[in-house]
This record gives sequence, C-alpha cells and structure tokens, in this order.
Amino acid sequence: MSTPPADPHLPAVHLRPPRNWINDPNGLVFHAGHYHVFFQYNPDAPQHANVHWGHARSRDLITWEQLPVALAPTPGGDDADGCYSGNAISVDGRLVAFYSAHRTGRWWQPVTTAESHDGGHTWAKRPESLIPQPPTDTTMYRDPYVWQQDGRWRMLVGSALADGRGAALLYESDDLEHWTYLGPFHTSSPADPADPAGWECPQYATFGDRGVLIVSDWTPQDGPSHVTVHTGHEEHGRFTTTAPPVRLDHGPDFYAPALLKAPEEDRWLLWGWSWEARDESWAHEAGWAGVLTLPREITLADDGTVGQRPARELLALRGERVLHRSEHVTRSGPVELGEVSRTFDLTAVLTPDPADTSGLRLITSADGSEYLHISFDPTACHLIVDRSHASLDARAREGVYTVPCPVARVPRTPVELRVVVDRSIAEIYLSTGQVLTVRFYPVGDGPWRLEAHTTGIAGSDFTVEAWDLNAVGLRHETLLACQLRDA
Ligand code: FRU
Repeated sequence: MSTPPADPHLPAVHLRPPRNWINDPNGLVFHAGHYHVFFQYNPDAPQHANVHWGHARSRDLITWEQLPVALAPTPGGDDADGCYSGNAISVDGRLVAFYSAHRTGRWWQPVTTAESHDGGHTWAKRPESLIPQPPTDTTMYRDPYVWQQDGRWRMLVGSALADGRGAALLYESDDLEHWTYLGPFHTSSPADPADPAGWECPQYATFGDRGVLIVSDWTPQDGPSHVTVHTGHEEHGRFTTTAPPVRLDHGPDFYAPALLKAPEEDRWLLWGWSWEARDESWAHEAGWAGVLTLPREITLADDGTVGQRPARELLALRGERVLHRSEHVTRSGPVELGEVSRTFDLTAVLTPDPADTSGLRLITSADGSEYLHISFDPTACHLIVDRSHASLDARAREGVYTVPCPVARVPRTPVELRVVVDRSIAEIYLSTGQVLTVRFYPVGDGPWRLEAHTTGIAGSDFTVEAWDLNAVGLRHETLLACQLRDA
C-alpha cells in the first residue's frame, strides 16, 4: 500500500479521487439517505481517456465515501471507448443511470442505461442501447438528463443541429423504456454556420412553473468553452426564455455542471467540473487532473436571476477562525490582515472607495511577488480576479477575469464576498449570487497571507473573517477507501 506524496495543489475539501483523471460530475441523485456523486473518471492516468463512472456518496455533504467504480467500458460493447456523461434517477428502490455510450470514430453517443439494486455498489447494463440513433438533423449527440414531471418521464439530450445551433433535444416516456422524440426543447440563437455551436450536458431544474436550463457550450473547433443558464418556462415541450442567457460561472475553469434535486422542496444542488489550468506535463507529474467544485445551492429570484452559494452544510467544515479584522484602507499603503492556511473560507464586506479599485490580495510567497488578486472597480462596476501573478511557475495559466456589475451602481455600495480557497482552486461567490471559479498554482515559499489594497484617495472599508477548513471529514474516508482498494 503506497501513501500518495503530499501535493500542495491537491485540493483537500473538494471532491475528487486521490489520483488520476476526473471530469464531469454525473448521475447526481439522492437515494436511500445518501447524496450520490458519480463522475467521469479514468482510473489509470491523469488524462481524458477510457472514461469510467467513479462514485462517491455522502449523507451530509461533508463526509464522503468513495465506492467502487460504478460503470466501466465493456470491451467490444457500445461503450467500449468510454461511459460518457449522463444522470441517474432513484425509482422504486433502484438506481437507474442514463449515460452516453462512446466508441471512437462514432460522432454520436447512443443513450443507454444501467441499473443498481444495491445503492450503486453493483450495476447491470442493458444489453442494447436505449436510444441507438440520433435524430437526422444533428451533428453531435450525447449526455442524457432524465427527470419526472407531471407523472411522465422526460429526457433532454445535448446536441448540435446541422444548421449550427446548439440544442437540448426532448424525449418523453411513460415507462422509462419507450421514448418518443419531441424535437428541440430549446436551442441557441441562429448561428453563423461557419461557427457552429453544440450544447453538452443539458440540465433542467424547475421552481414551481418556472424552469432553469443549464447547458455547457462546446464548439467542434475549440471543444468545451463555458456554461450558460437560460431561465423561462416550458409549454408543450418547448422552453421559452424570459431573459437573455447569462454565464453560470464567470471564471475560466468551470464546465459541465450537473444538478441534484435535494429531498427538500425546491432545493437544487449543483457541482461543476474545474479543469486544470496548467501544462499537461505538470498534471502528469502530479498524477492527477481535475476536481469537482463545492456543492452549490441554486436559487431563482423573482426577477429571474439564478444565484449560487456554497451548500449551507459546508459551514460545518469551518474550523478555527484565524482572522477577523475591520480596517479603513487608503492608498498610502496596503494593510496586512494576517495569515491563512492553504484551505480556508473567507467572508469580506468591502465598502469601496468610489473612485478607484480596492480589493484583497492573497500573497503566497515571502517576497510578495506571487499573489492572487481579487478587487472591485466601481467605475466599470466589475469584480476582477487577476491570476497573472498567481504562480511563479510559467507552466500555470495566467489571466484576468471579471464578474460584470455585481452590485447597484451607487457609490460606496458594499460588495459582499465569500471566497473558498482550497490549495489550487478558488471559488469566489458574491452575495448577489454570481460566482467565479479559478485554478491557480502557487509555488512560493509562503506562508499565505492576506492584504487589503486600494488605489483610491478616499479609502475603502474592509471587514474580513477567515476560517481554516477541516479537511478530515471529506478526505479521510475517500483516501482510506482507495488505499484499501489498492492494497
Ligand atoms: C463534457 C463532456 C461530455 C461527455 C464527457 C466525456 O465535458 O465532453 O459531453 O459526455 O465530457 O468525458
């Protein structure tokens, strides 16, 4: 039994297997007292190939157990080159997973299923795929999402239409076996045929008679891009939006999120995939790639805005409060707020200088040259996350990302942030519901510390609190289970 070497970038409270590759969360379902999270998983290498469905479960979203791999490609079968993404339902005491069967060289992935009668420990695949062929006018087809509505089963499948639009295709069934194709549920706007789009991993949440459709935007040229959310309502199998689509996450490293309907009324949770933002060779050396985001609660406001915040259960991960400061900061110099660990949860209320940029700097090298910078520009009304100096190692990606106008354009309106940092991932939540996920790879000699900055004359007010996060609950069983499996 080998103990994995300490890796300063391996997240401690975010869900992922200890080694190798992970991409999309799949099959998120509450079943018999557990939240089940399956995920695209290559058990053999930190690269996207030979994708299985890994499996973890939790009763409380805090302590996770890693269960045996749920789905593995069947040699010679329809899914011989990968059990691609999909979802799962809990019905009559069993779990049914709907997934995309991948064969190299076949542009569509037939929808197929597997069933488990023991809480997801063992699975039986159906012998033939459920929906072997896509409709004729499509050029991409994968990622089923099944849910029950008004007594019928419905399924969306991610697709690209021959005319260049991305689409979520709708099917219906009375018995989960016989499915009728009803056409596109919703599509992207007419596209430039020279620049076609596709929608991967459609997800659909209902809040009363309103609906939220989440799709992962993909193009044949560039592959995965970002995630958009469409709000509106559905009538007779067609979704009508009541607002233009917006980004679900404003960061560069967030894709293919999946929804879980929690047992409570109207409570929806969401996990996304956060990919690596460093050279493949580095991930290869490290032996792992990808991580799931924290579970997030999704809300739909009366004005149609979709909000996200960390699931309330995660407050229980907070350990020692390492910092609690209120400061008035002027341009005459940054104010040192104190040290933090490499896995922490922070809240900040920033009442910004009306004329200039103010924010927090997470400094990770003793000389201050390596830092992640989070600031607010009241003139442009942008929250800005700058990782241009976040790693002294040139193999880490750089970039500056913004959340457009998170607050009212009224001078000195406070900006409220919650920032969860876990070694190489930061999730930055605004109290207004927007979020930005970013990966960063500090290699500095630390310790990690926070500074408050402003370039304005009048100065800004900061109130900052930070807690260490306890990793024990989340990783312990995961590591243990994997070590036992590998022993
Ligand atoms: C999204 C995606 C899905 C596909 C899976 C393959 O990241 O490309 O469309 O089913 O990943 O791993």
